Amino acid sequence: MAYELASERLEQIYAEYRKIAYPYLLVDASRRGAGRDGDTEAVYGTTPAPTVLQLLEFGGATADDVFYDLGCGLGVPTIVAAHFCKRSIGIEFLPEVAEKAREVARGLNIDNAVFELNDYKSADVSLGTLIYCYSTCMRAQSRVEVAESVSRARPGTRILTVTHNFEHPELEMKEKRELSWEGSSHTVYLHLRK
Ligand SMILES: C[S@@+](CC[C@H](N)C(=O)[O-])C[C@H]1O[C@@H](n2cnc3c(N)ncnc32)[C@H](O)[C@@H]1O
Repeated sequence: MAYELASERLEQIYAEYRKIAYPYLLVDASRRGAGRDGDTEAVYGTTPAPTVLQLLEFGGATADDVFYDLGCGLGVPTIVAAHFCKRSIGIEFLPEVAEKAREVARGLNIDNAVFELNDYKSADVSLGTLIYCYSTCMRAQSRVEVAESVSRARPGTRILTVTHNFEHPELEMKEKRELSWEGSSHTVYLHLRK
């Protein structure tokens, strides 16, 4: 499979995101509204669309996959993955942020992407077959909880994490790659649910 999007489509995606004037401030206000001010895991951050294409290639995304982004923020990975996977699900616990991601999906006429308002530590993600987590800011205990959750997915499920790998008896770390985005190098880990 070619993990590419036509330049016109990429431009449409960028145009939808440009409508969000101050994304950082939106996340900040939503975090305060949810009483999570100071929560170091509830931070603004976006995986750029071209990087998501690299991640989909690394994870071997196919049209049979159910893609999950745990902590989806404004939804770029979920939106991009929806072009390659049969279903794409973003989990986000900040309501205004999840709603903004839904607006982007509507603006792009994407109907196989959904944004669930939920805590990824307790959400059932067992139907996911390709799971992404921008885990850089996750505390060690959160990583243990999320590793337990994704270990309930079916064998063969691929799990991509950033900066930290997940450790669990049911997960095998297969490969890691250095990818650069937003001026920094990031280690991305590919795990396989055994
Ligand atoms: C660094 S951003 C990543 C956004 C997106 N995954 C991307 O790569 O573009 C992390 C997001 O995870 C959300 N988040 C943090 N903890 C969460 C939790 N326990 N449940 C759901 N969302 C969470 C934050 O609110 C934030 O929007």
